Amino acid sequence: MAQLLGELPIATSTDGVVVGLAAFDDAGVIQSPRGDYLVQTLDFFTPIVDDPYVFGAAAAANSLSDVYAMGGVPLSALTIACLPIQELPASMVREMMKGAMDKLKEAHCELLGGHTIQDKELKFGFSVTGIVEPTALMTKAKAKAGDQLVLTKRIGTGVLATAAKRGVLSKEGEDALHESLMKLNATAAKIATDFHIQCATDVTGFGLLGHALDLAKQSQLGLSIFSDKVPLLPTAYELALDKKNQAGGLNRNRLFIEAKLSIEFDDEALLTLLFDPQTSGGLLFAVRTAVVFDFVQELTNRGETANIIGEFVEGDLQMTLQKSAS
Ligand code: CO
Ligand code: CO
Repeated sequence: MAQLLGELPIATSTDGVVVGLAAFDDAGVIQSPRGDYLVQTLDFFTPIVDDPYVFGAAAAANSLSDVYAMGGVPLSALTIACLPIQELPASMVREMMKGAMDKLKEAHCELLGGHTIQDKELKFGFSVTGIVEPTALMTKAKAKAGDQLVLTKRIGTGVLATAAKRGVLSKEGEDALHESLMKLNATAAKIATDFHIQCATDVTGFGLLGHALDLAKQSQLGLSIFSDKVPLLPTAYELALDKKNQAGGLNRNRLFIEAKLSIEFDDEALLTLLFDPQTSGGLLFAVRTAVVFDFVQELTNRGETANIIGEFVEGDLQMTLQKSAS
């Protein structure tokens, strides 16, 4: 979005805009005339897996994620679908919709309508509207020096999905990939609200490092990542050793971020995964040291994968990648 706007002036014409274009956040937030904070977002993409049910569910989970990243609760969704009507069997479209609708139902999010056009390549996603309590609102700009960086979910969906397309993904890897893609960030966001966390984003196409660096940038801080604390999906590390499993977009992520990195370890496969573009990834939170262990414990108790993977530091935008001290 940012590149698209270029030099166009970003002016807001109402006082109600709480998080607007200029914030470059996960979703927009506007105050309705009645006083509610509405969260609005749109996301759609091309298939990442062959299974239409999983793809539909992943598209919904991914679209809902930006609402959760703002601390919001989804209310309603509209679908956007570009369908190759000639090639795509109607049964597959139904399976895709079923996956999506099951996921929306799990999120207590009502599908109200949408729009479909014919296209050469399948694209599918949702615009989601939610509400957020003003006190629960999380933005990218609220990290403080000393805050710990907490990640939910594991990384590696890009590498695993690429391996699946090449036919070299194990059953274990495929199950983990599908589960991760379809998992909602709802519980993690709810727990973050309970802990009064103020700063979050979700991990998607720019990879773990891209989105972590974005938090640091918007918060005008530097960041240390404890590379060996970053949880990986099963088989992801072995697959990342083979360059053929690198997802499209990985090198672009790398070129974009590398200049701002200082890397204190030598592990090409791990680096690949840190740059790996994610689909329907987990949430990244900046958390006060005083509550971070209780927060991670509560996430873990409620069945979430949660790890402290870094620390925000005073200073210019720069990221250090290091093995943790312990
Ligand atoms: Co996002
Ligand atoms: Co998005």
